[in-house]
Amino acid sequence: MSTRTVYFIEGDGIGAEVWGAARPVLDAAVEKAYSGSKKIDWVELLAGEKAYKATGSYLPQDTLDTLAKADLAMKGPLQTPVGKGFRSLNVTLRQTFDLYACIRPIKYYDGIESPVKRPDLVDIVVFRENTEDVYAGIEYASGSDEAKRVAEFLIDEMGAKLDPSAGIGIKPITPKGSRRLVRRALDYALEQNRDSVTLVHKGNIMKFTEGGFRQWGYDLAAEEYAGKVVTEDKAEAGKVVIKDRIADAMFQEALMRPEQYSVIATTNLNGDYISDALAAQVGGLGLAPGVNMGDTLAIYEATHGTAPTIAGKDMANPGSILLSGAMMLENIGWTEASDLIKGSVVKALAAKKVTVDLASQIAGAETVGCKAFGEILLSNL
Ligand code: NAI
Repeated sequence: MSTRTVYFIEGDGIGAEVWGAARPVLDAAVEKAYSGSKKIDWVELLAGEKAYKATGSYLPQDTLDTLAKADLAMKGPLQTPVGKGFRSLNVTLRQTFDLYACIRPIKYYDGIESPVKRPDLVDIVVFRENTEDVYAGIEYASGSDEAKRVAEFLIDEMGAKLDPSAGIGIKPITPKGSRRLVRRALDYALEQNRDSVTLVHKGNIMKFTEGGFRQWGYDLAAEEYAGKVVTEDKAEAGKVVIKDRIADAMFQEALMRPEQYSVIATTNLNGDYISDALAAQVGGLGLAPGVNMGDTLAIYEATHGTAPTIAGKDMANPGSILLSGAMMLENIGWTEASDLIKGSVVKALAAKKVTVDLASQIAGAETVGCKAFGEILLSNL
């Protein structure tokens, strides 16, 4: 019997409810696909409110120590407690474990209402760099001593034209960070027989950061993937094409010609925007899975937040955490179980008995609670 340990963090708000609905479906899919020869060994780790109540810490050292040695984890949404100086737990996890790739597959599910005419043409996997860019946290408030000192340096020593009253943020993009992200995207495209990887950047304006990302991506493809990956002008059957698009043009392309894009590799801020925009094209975040991945650890997570207004009301949609679990099963090679789960979601949408968020997007749908939706998904396996 093959057992994989998966550490899980329940999460705040709707976390417990979506887990309660999704976990039995994950277990049952594995059981059904492998008749007991494969099994997930779930081990709970504390983080967020639940951890605070039990230990006085939102992110206990035990959790960090265990994750440091782990390879697979899943997490529900974690609230960022409001208060000065409190760092987001999500960002802390990403930075502590160097989870540099945020991967979001975006695909249409039949029957969901979408704001575009052909949502079915969208089948794009976004690889977003997760540790650099304006998210690095190097920011100084307008009027602060730090901002004044940085402005002084830039004006006096670097000859920059800058209003000294500006708030200042730094945008670091490194060759190392860009190359490892693009490498992941290219490996994925080759493994999954995807036909192209598009580097999305704003290098026409930010030449040394966004433009650097583009250049390092092309350099990597030429150095490490010769014979397997070719540029757009040398496209040939059976090879992955690496191309690039300027971010604003990419948003237009995503709406007008989504079928020409298969894998996107992009910097942190562009990736944040484009993954939500693409998710909206296929009907929103309710069924959007995601993972934050480093070289040793992958944390699969719901892409939504804690939804405080519906927490505890049995209204939440467990689809995002469930499909993140399906993505995890696929990535560890348990594809049969993953396919059963995706099939079960397709059936549930076709039967039009869904949670309220989805019901509002499916004509004639009947609303069921989170628990009941979980039971429907379970029986659909
Ligand atoms: P949110 O995603 O929690 O809610 C946005 C809207 O979507 C709300 O109307 C909510 O009711 C609805 N919604 C979200 N998930 C749903 C689900 N599974 N089923 C049905 N409806 C759902 O985003 P918001 O309000 O911006 O953030 C709330 C809290 O969540 C904040 O503390 C934020 O920091 C945290 N958050 C955590 C994330 C994570 O752990 N990865 C991601 C985003 C937000």
